[in-house]
Amino acid sequence: EGSKKVQLVEDASLPSAIRVKILNLKSLRGKRARVLGWVHRLRSQKDIIFIVLRDGTGYLQAVLSGAPARTYEALTLTLESSVELVGTLQTTPEGKAAPGGHELLVDFWRTLGAAPSGDDAFTNRFNEKSEPSILADLRHLVLRGENASSVLRLCSAMLSAFRATYSEHHLIEVNPPCVVQTQVEGGATLFKLDYYGQPAFLTQSSQLYLETCLPALGDVYCVQESFRAENSHTRRHLSEYTHLEAELAFINFDDLMNHIETIICETVDKLLQNETAAALIKQLNPSFTPPARPFKRLAYVDAIAWLNEHGIKHEAEDAEGNVIKDADGKPTMVDHAIGDDIAEAAERKMTDIIGTPVFLHSFPAELKAFYMKKAAKAPGSGDNLVLTESCDLLMPGVGEIVGGSMRISDIDELLAGYKREGIDPAPYYWFTDQRKYGTCEHGGYGIGVERLLAWLANRYTVRECSLYPRWPGRATP
Ligand code: 4AD
Repeated sequence: EGSKKVQLVEDASLPSAIRVKILNLKSLRGKRARVLGWVHRLRSQKDIIFIVLRDGTGYLQAVLSGAPARTYEALTLTLESSVELVGTLQTTPEGKAAPGGHELLVDFWRTLGAAPSGDDAFTNRFNEKSEPSILADLRHLVLRGENASSVLRLCSAMLSAFRATYSEHHLIEVNPPCVVQTQVEGGATLFKLDYYGQPAFLTQSSQLYLETCLPALGDVYCVQESFRAENSHTRRHLSEYTHLEAELAFINFDDLMNHIETIICETVDKLLQNETAAALIKQLNPSFTPPARPFKRLAYVDAIAWLNEHGIKHEAEDAEGNVIKDADGKPTMVDHAIGDDIAEAAERKMTDIIGTPVFLHSFPAELKAFYMKKAAKAPGSGDNLVLTESCDLLMPGVGEIVGGSMRISDIDELLAGYKREGIDPAPYYWFTDQRKYGTCEHGGYGIGVERLLAWLANRYTVRECSLYPRWPGRATP
């Protein structure tokens, strides 16, 4: 009885313990260390308690034996409790493995915040087999898991690597607004809000703002949230996503595609050269190999032919855009025709068959936004098809991860573009001014950060690649 109620006191006669993060423990082998964190794993064997402690910088095995294993707190310790551990760090005994190659022999410890046991215990809240909606509601707890947290770590490393790559290419980072009064990618996907009595939107893309930065700062980029009120319940659509966008002055279409390829490949190389990032990629996506350069380029009209040659069809739609169904209620599948949008399913199949990154380029103007530069007509092409200098970068397993284009540089063409799309030019005065005061050939692109991460970390859906993903109906937690 008495032996179970041991009261621990920190032994002041021992050398004082140095407070460190798990990451920095190595230099303290043979010395006393003080580590604070959460109980990630917990196991007891006879009178010994093994804890794997997590502090965000790594994992540490700790061993509690003797008095430290016999306190009331020790007997009631639960997973996910926060604790302070003090002890001597020793190299893991021969034949045993532990994170970092060492373990902490604890002589003093205490619980800082006890997590519940019983029905409310962490392990009773969810497991890998829980319903997706439960996992979504408990995202704040799911994040504590090894894979979920590794994806976020990789995201951080990826954004740092992008920033370093952009800096090497002399692009400056800017911070455009989220609340805007203009659309970029079509009115259908705008989230509207009341802004002090005025209509405003959540931004769909910072592109127009980046364009205004060119004459002020030169080439620029931003990492900003974009919002799309798309009723798409797919593996790759979010209602809010992190948008990495860049804009470059005095370039042509070829320069643009070369630049996108360079930035992505140099960023991937940086990640693979970084020990921590490379380990995360290896953990999440063991078979990852950096893509070969140059990326394949496929013109839209050739892609349509390719889809038809490979028997990849799409659902037939009536004039109102409703799917035409046969007598059994199955959608009628038809060949692709020039002018059709290449839908997600067909695009995915194509990318997976090709198996490498592909630049799909030169889309018809009627499928694209008002600001896109028209491509020069091929001599003798004769027909009415107007193409744009636009490109999407498709990655195996995910599909489109980048959308970009050259922009209209001529003011009259831009004004005609507003008209064609039924856009009131008044709120765009600042954008139109760019074409008035020293216009230039320019282009840019937007990378879907969650999609790129889904490719890099081999995740099934972008929902796993967002800290707190938003999709139709979901804005919690
Ligand atoms: O192709 P998008 O719509 O292009 C633009 O917004 C341009 N104005 C960007 C630019 O040129 N500055 O979007 C660009 C990328 C897509 O390729 C995709 O990766 C991602 O943004 N994206 C989404 N990601 C997650 N959920 C959604 N609903 C997305 N919509 C676009």
